[in-house]
Amino acid sequence: MKVTVIDHPLIQHKLTLMRQKDTGTKDFRELLEEIAMLMAYEITRDFPLKEIEIETPVTKCKAKVLAGKKVGVVPILRAGLGMLNGVVNMIPAARVGHVGMYRDPKTLKPVEYYCKLPNDVAERTLIVVDPMLATGGSAAAALSLLKEKGAKSMILMCLVAAPEGIKVINEEHPDVPLYVAAIDEKLNEKGYIVPGLGDAGDRIFGTL
Ligand code: PRP
Ligand code: URA
Repeated sequence: MKVTVIDHPLIQHKLTLMRQKDTGTKDFRELLEEIAMLMAYEITRDFPLKEIEIETPVTKCKAKVLAGKKVGVVPILRAGLGMLNGVVNMIPAARVGHVGMYRDPKTLKPVEYYCKLPNDVAERTLIVVDPMLATGGSAAAALSLLKEKGAKSMILMCLVAAPEGIKVINEEHPDVPLYVAAIDEKLNEKGYIVPGLGDAGDRIFGTL
């Protein structure tokens, strides 16, 4: 599995603001959306292009348009919703699927509670988004579910990852490239990423 850390200065600056405990819900949400937009710009860098004939007001010419598979964006509920608009701002024609997955606070195992996808997932490149890759359980389960539903081409995009989560995705989904803005040090005894940014869902939705 290929892991890419997108270390663009704007992303790193915004992530540092998000990590700070005094950053409130409004700013946290806006920063996450902005980072998701910048990450989407980076992960689509190698998308294939083709030339088509067009006519400008001045002349006919050849110009490039996207040529690869259509895109689907799949936020893992709830916190993944915080990255959705940023990606869709960059890829407005993308279809959106939702996978509901929460982490049982005691066992840290993922529990699936919702799945609604476009009917042509097999023909799309799916960008699966979740800000936090901690134990990797939620993302690995979401990717497995999407494969069961027919997905053939997926990219996983997370904001902050723990080494433990990266290992799980590498073992269970070596075919899925992973893009992150930061790889943190470790998980603590409660399964939180250290230093991390706390509970992403709670900080996005103000449910602390
Ligand atoms: C968070 C986060 C991931 C998951 C990561 O979701 O958004 O989905 O935890 O942890 P893992 O890698 O150990 O599975 P949470 O379960 O808190 O649900 P929420 O998004 O609804 O807040
Ligand atoms: N989920 C979060 O929201 N934060 C963590 O640090 C780990 C899991």
